[in-house]
Amino acid sequence: MINLRGIEKHYGSVTALNQVNLDIARGELVVLIGPSGCGKSTLLRTVNRMTEPSAGQIIIDGLNVLESDPVLLRRSIGYVIQNVGLFPHMTVRENVAVVPQLLGWDKAKRLRRADEMLELVRLDPHKFGARYPGQLSGGQQQRVGIARALAADPALLLMDEPFSAVDPITREQLQEELLRIQRDVRKTILFVTHDIDEAIRLADKICLLRDGAVVQYGDPDTLLRQPADAFVAQFFGQEPALRRLARYSVADFARRDAVSVAAAVAALSAGAASVPLHTGARTALSRLLGGQQQLAVTDEAGHVVGQVTLADLRLGGTASTAGAARAAVAAAAQAATYAGDAASSGRALAA
Ligand SMILES: Nc1ncnc2c1ncn2[C@@H]1O[C@H](COP(=O)(O)OP(=O)(O)OP(=O)(O)O)[C@@H](O)[C@H]1O
Ligand SMILES: [Mg+2]
Repeated sequence: MINLRGIEKHYGSVTALNQVNLDIARGELVVLIGPSGCGKSTLLRTVNRMTEPSAGQIIIDGLNVLESDPVLLRRSIGYVIQNVGLFPHMTVRENVAVVPQLLGWDKAKRLRRADEMLELVRLDPHKFGARYPGQLSGGQQQRVGIARALAADPALLLMDEPFSAVDPITREQLQEELLRIQRDVRKTILFVTHDIDEAIRLADKICLLRDGAVVQYGDPDTLLRQPADAFVAQFFGQEPALRRLARYSVADFARRDAVSVAAAVAALSAGAASVPLHTGARTALSRLLGGQQQLAVTDEAGHVVGQVTLADLRLGGTASTAGAARAAVAAAAQAATYAGDAASSGRALAA
């Protein structure tokens, strides 16, 4: 979908980007991460030509971006930044409809689309559509920013530290929403952050930059388990296994056979705690370390479907199985998207 070839950017004597080569497949969420000033924002901005590279090529779907009209290019790519940049004098609904308006959609169609997008980011259009941005919380504004970026249904979304101005709880909710939206609509997303846990949680692939160059590019498990050099290892810190856990939920580890279900039901009636299947594996670990012998695991309807103990939370084989499952889902979605059938991609992901 996107091929960056030998991208360089120089500001006088400063080299912001140094021979960056990167291939991003359709439907992948790629996180750019690295120390402050390493070139993350500059690289993101070259993709929609808000920054012109000094050298190199940017190919999107086989077309050389540097030969296309920058204004049309920018309209075809969603862009979300920190602090959103909503127009304060326009209502939420009008803000979301900005790009469709630029693209000449008729009014009824673009307002309908705006309401659909507000629903997608879980803002009730009847409640929020007619408000002004100043009448929303920071997290709600950020949701409007995402709705606006998705409104014209771009295949590609660029996000530069979109969640860094909100509190930690709101931030986790927004991450969860982004993953859910991504399961529904499957965009190709380039996402800049300097938050390692956010990167590991969201990324299909992580691109670690240093001094304008790519140090390592791969799936999060690989960067954590097989860092390319000491800089990568140091960047991700002393607890790679704990960080990897952030990608997994209780569903990846729970034992769900009949014997385990019976044991969980018995434990529950003897006072053991229960957690829903979607609970993060790190949260479960914390509960177990805190003294729970086991946790009964429940489905959405509250039925006991298995149990999880400390011994189950092992990242060896289980994790690679879970990782493989995630990769298989992504591959199925990609195949479906290539077939040009967005609906079937949704079904593949739901299955
Ligand atoms: N317009 C500019 N003129 C001169 N130098 C610039 C310009 N924009 C960026 N730079 C320099 O290019 C380098 C990369 O900047 P960039 O904004 O891409 O970093 P970043 O990785 O996004 O950092 P941060 O995490 O702090 O946002 C830095 O050294 C920066 O000072
Ligand atoms: Mg930046």
